[in-house]
Formats: sequence, C-alpha cells, structure tokens
Amino acid sequence: MATAEERTDPGPATAGGGRSVLVTGGAGFIGSHVAEAHLARGDRVCILDDLSTGRLGNVPRGADFARLDVADPDARDFIRSGGFEIVNHHAARIDVRASVADPAADARTNLLGLLHVLEGARLGGAERVVFVSSGGVVYGETSQSPTPETAPKRPLSPYGVSKLASELYLDFYRQVHGLRCVALRYGNIFGPRQDPGGEAGVVSIFAGRLLRGEPLAIYGDGRQLRDYLFVEDAARANLLAAEIPVAPGGGVDAHAFNVGSGTGTSVNALAEALEAIAGVRTGRRRLPARPGEVRRNVLDTGRIRKRWGWRPAFTLREGLERTFAHIAALRPPAGHATEVPA
Ligand SMILES: NC(=O)c1ccc[n+]([C@@H]2O[C@H](COP(=O)([O-])OP(=O)(O)OC[C@H]3O[C@@H](n4cnc5c(N)ncnc54)[C@H](O)[C@@H]3O)[C@@H](O)[C@H]2O)c1
Repeated sequence: MATAEERTDPGPATAGGGRSVLVTGGAGFIGSHVAEAHLARGDRVCILDDLSTGRLGNVPRGADFARLDVADPDARDFIRSGGFEIVNHHAARIDVRASVADPAADARTNLLGLLHVLEGARLGGAERVVFVSSGGVVYGETSQSPTPETAPKRPLSPYGVSKLASELYLDFYRQVHGLRCVALRYGNIFGPRQDPGGEAGVVSIFAGRLLRGEPLAIYGDGRQLRDYLFVEDAARANLLAAEIPVAPGGGVDAHAFNVGSGTGTSVNALAEALEAIAGVRTGRRRLPARPGEVRRNVLDTGRIRKRWGWRPAFTLREGLERTFAHIAALRPPAGHATEVPA
C-alpha cells in the first residue's frame, strides 16, 4: 500500500454538504478547485493523487491526502474501503501529444485507472461517480458548432479515444451495476494553478510570457476558436453533478454534459485580451499550424444550462484577470537571483 498522509480535520458541515467525497487528481489544477468547492460546502474531502503532475501544495487545507497511482490495484482497494459517497475522478494523463507518442501509457492511467476507480466505487457502495471527459477531444473535427452532446464522436488522439471509451465504461456500470455515473465534457478550462503544459495552458503560457517580456507564440493564423471557461465555474458544475438524479437508461450521451462558455474565442483575441490586462505588448511569434489541430472547438452548453440551471459566473475577462493576477503574484521579485549552472 502506498503512503497515505493525514492532513488537517475537515471543517464543519453546512447545508447541502456533509458528505464524504473522494477527488482523484485533486493535487492537480482543476481537481484542487473541485476539492475546495466541496470543502466550502461542508463535505469531507479525501484526495487521491500520484503527484505525477500535481503538487502537494495544491491540496487544500482540510482535505486528507493519499498518494496512490490509480492504475495500481491498491487505489481500487483504497476507494473500496474508504466509505466514500461521491467519487469524483479527475486523475488523468492529459497530454494529447504524449498519448500519440505512447498510447499504452495513456491507456494505463486513463482506462485501467478508470476501471480501478469504478470498481472501488462499486464495491465500496459509493452513491455516484463524477467523471471528467473532454469536449475538446471527444468530438474531433465536427461540422456542428457549437457542438451538442449528441454530435458524432471522432476523437483524433488516443487521449480522446480513452475519454470516449471511459464514457462507455460508465454506461456499463450504470446499466449493469446501477452505479450513478455522470460525465462532464470540459471545454478549455483555465485559471490559477494551471500547468502551462496542460490542454488549455495557453492562458498560463501567454501570461508568463507577457510578464517576462517575451513574444507570444501563435500557431497558424491564430483564428482557431476555443471555448474557454474559468476553473471556478467548472468546479461549480462538479457540485451539481454530485446532486442531479441519474437514471440507468439512455446511453452515453444522455449522461454527458458539456461544460464550457458556449462561446468561441480565437487565440488572437485571447492574446489581445491578456495584453490589455497586462498593459504591455511583447510582440507575436508566428509558428506553422500544428498538424491535426481542429479549427473550431466550441461547446453547445444548452443542456447543462437548462437542466441544472448552471451558467458561468465569470466573464472571460474576469477569469483572465484573476489568472493573470495569480501568475504575477508568483513571480520572483525584481532582482531575484536565478539559478545558473555550476
Ligand atoms: N485542463 C483542461 O482544460 C481540461 C479539459 C478537458 C478535460 N480535462 C480533464 O480534467 C482532469 C484534470 O485535468 P487538469 O488540467 O487539472 O490536469 P492536471 O495534470 O493538473 O491534473 C491531473 C492530476 O492527476 C494526477 N494523476 C495523473 N496520473 C495519475 C495516476 N496514474 N494516479 C493518480 N493520480 C494521477 C496528477 O498528478 C494531477 O494532479 C483530467 O481528467 C483532464 O483530462 C481538462
């Protein structure tokens, strides 16, 4: 059994909270915000993470922490015996290009890991599983924009295939085991604590470059459209996903919810917005378009708005301002010594 480190006690329960929640990947970018949202609601939170890309410093105060690899059967046994009511699964290898280079490594974490999480949840009597899929990759190049949940799925990477296959596994667990499973198909989530190498790392990358006075690298013509959503809005969708009724039938798409702004923003427009917030222009570096990159990825969010009453609380500008302020605050003060090779 890998190490399980005890952190501080959870806070007092509040209305609507008081449940026992496991957040896998909770030491990472989005999972740590989801853990915070559950804690703020008065739930007890345990985080399971192997710290491969996550950081112990992201684990919020008040959460327990277990360092485990979801692809290891120990993770399944930990979940089975943990008494969790809600299992929220954010742990994943998220690098699309790495999944193309090593599809087996992607499948080990993203599929074998998912099965350990689902088995642990089923055997441990969990009430439901909230799984995080990706609206950015399951649809692939699509003629429907904004893209509804029912659009054809043509993933262009092993990472996208593993997300779609995961949703099929959820359907099996719903139908055969009666486990309540919900899939959230995220757009490009951004915000504090995002690793610049992530799926929507462009916000962190641009902010960092502006702060260092470096030009912004833009692939292709910069007119490719993406659906950017501030991380706290995504976290709020997770709280709702832990509540809504789930019936076993209906198939994969019936239990999937796009989570995005519903609006397309070009990379050029994103660069301009961040330049305005930073109050500086550092120039652009034009790079060749990346092969296989989709032109448009904008999610139709009508379903989650209508059924759950969810809508983004933050405008793009507000989210960018908060993210920029967070990254600026992390910068070493002027004159800070930088490491030089010995
Ligand atoms: N960032 C986005 O815009 C976006 C978009 C769509 C979907 N998602 C999904 O959201 C989830 C979280 O992504 P993120 O952007 O916060 O990335 P992240 O890398 O910050 O978080 C992933 C976390 O999972 C952990 N992890 C990885 N492999 C593990 C393993 N084998 N066992 C246990 N823990 C492991 C990492 O240490 C990390 O803390 C992922 O499932 C990702 O596919 C993210």
